[in-house]
Amino acid sequence: MDYFTRTKIRSIILDEKIKIGEKPIILGWVRSVRQSKNVIFVAVNDGSCMGTLQGVISDPDSFPDLEKLSTGSSVRMVGELVESQGKGQKYEITVESLELLGGADESYPLQKKRHSYEFLREIAHLRPRTNTFGAVNRIRSKLAYAIHKFYQDRGFYYIHTPIITASDAEGAGDMFRVTTLDLENPPRVDGKIDFNKDFFSTATYLTVSGQLDGELLATALGDIYTFGPTFRSEKSNTSRHVSEFWMIEPEMAFCELDEDMQLAEEFLKYLFEYALTECADDMEFFGKWIDKTVRETLEGVIKSDFERITYTEAMDILVKCGQKFEFPVGWGKDLQSEHERYLTEKHFKKPVIVYDYPREIKAFYMTVNDDGKTVRAMDVLVPKIGEIIGGSEREHRHDVLRDRIVECGLDLDDYDWYLDIRKYGTVPHAGFGLGFDRTLMYITGMANIRDVIPFPRVPRWARF
Ligand code: 4AD
Ligand code: MG
Repeated sequence: MDYFTRTKIRSIILDEKIKIGEKPIILGWVRSVRQSKNVIFVAVNDGSCMGTLQGVISDPDSFPDLEKLSTGSSVRMVGELVESQGKGQKYEITVESLELLGGADESYPLQKKRHSYEFLREIAHLRPRTNTFGAVNRIRSKLAYAIHKFYQDRGFYYIHTPIITASDAEGAGDMFRVTTLDLENPPRVDGKIDFNKDFFSTATYLTVSGQLDGELLATALGDIYTFGPTFRSEKSNTSRHVSEFWMIEPEMAFCELDEDMQLAEEFLKYLFEYALTECADDMEFFGKWIDKTVRETLEGVIKSDFERITYTEAMDILVKCGQKFEFPVGWGKDLQSEHERYLTEKHFKKPVIVYDYPREIKAFYMTVNDDGKTVRAMDVLVPKIGEIIGGSEREHRHDVLRDRIVECGLDLDDYDWYLDIRKYGTVPHAGFGLGFDRTLMYITGMANIRDVIPFPRVPRWARF
């Protein structure tokens, strides 16, 4: 086709690389066809940006394909670029040739009306062609790039941790099993399934986090980050949870909790700033149609100094605030989303980093504080969403870590390699995990995490 010779609509209307009088080849999908007197206007979008390019046809009789042209069809359109007579666009094309590549009949579900997000999830194979999901997917791509840029510019190395794993990195048991055993008739020993006969000669799962392997690399390369898919089988059917999500996990050797918090704050601010400056046209769309406050919210975060409070201080605020919560508050209880939102939206009115959580409610790998009761965990909470980052300083004392693994009911044999890096040249190290999809919710103002992922996976839903 004309792959290398066509012009992307973006380079006409945003980058202004094509000049008046030139004759670009446009390849895209028809958004609308409209007739006024004897003139036909065809709006084409090619996905390169939000905008459409209007083709103007003043002699319809010489275009045999016109009859079959409708919303959703794909076209090849060529003509002279002129300044638009009409309102709403700067340029248009005086169409010289218009070829229908693939038609779309009246059953095409994305006719010109607003659809509910629920409906659009059912047609996730077509929703990328809407304005909203076009913008979401473009921002996803840009932000993925920004993440690499942030870390690469700071000398971090990008590492790939395995997706199939035999260990539970969070010790929470929310893992999907990976197996090639015959589920109808699995091999057994002593009445139990014999995973020795499974593909890897051991029970295996999809990873919940790349952190443990990340630590191995950080204690060799210094500063590393992972950016990959993670999987959790927790049955949380909320607007902020999915079963498959992408996480960015930096890990830094010779780093303690304060420095970890500082990096997390800089990282979030960088991403928000990047979205505002590098994705301006799509951000304008979100501000206009999805959430009017989105720019203000991001700018607020960029300007603020994140509040830092201990878990004990946070609980104190929650216990004394007089607000009614669905879940109970009190020292030792985990912070629920409603509590996190109270702290960020009502009390501090800015992002809050809560640190030093009770050891009972956090993972086995976190440094135990001298009080023996709390661990060096930190969660970054933001208005509207609550937790967006979870991180910690890692326990680097061999004996303390070994005791914690046992205390958490995990099998020491599964973690011998993890303990080894505490045996040979152990160093303080720390890191965190940022949920990529929650970050995109925040940036776009989309209210449901299912609408920032092309094909989300949630309980009872793995279609497409
Ligand atoms: O707090 P979490 O569980 O931390 C970890 O996995 C650590 N290993 C990270 C580290 O220290 N390297 O998860 C980190 C972040 C959360 O703050 C949240 O943004 C996101 O991952 N997240 C989810 N996002 C979507 N759906 C889910 N079910 C999520 N669970 C966690
Ligand atoms: Mg967490």
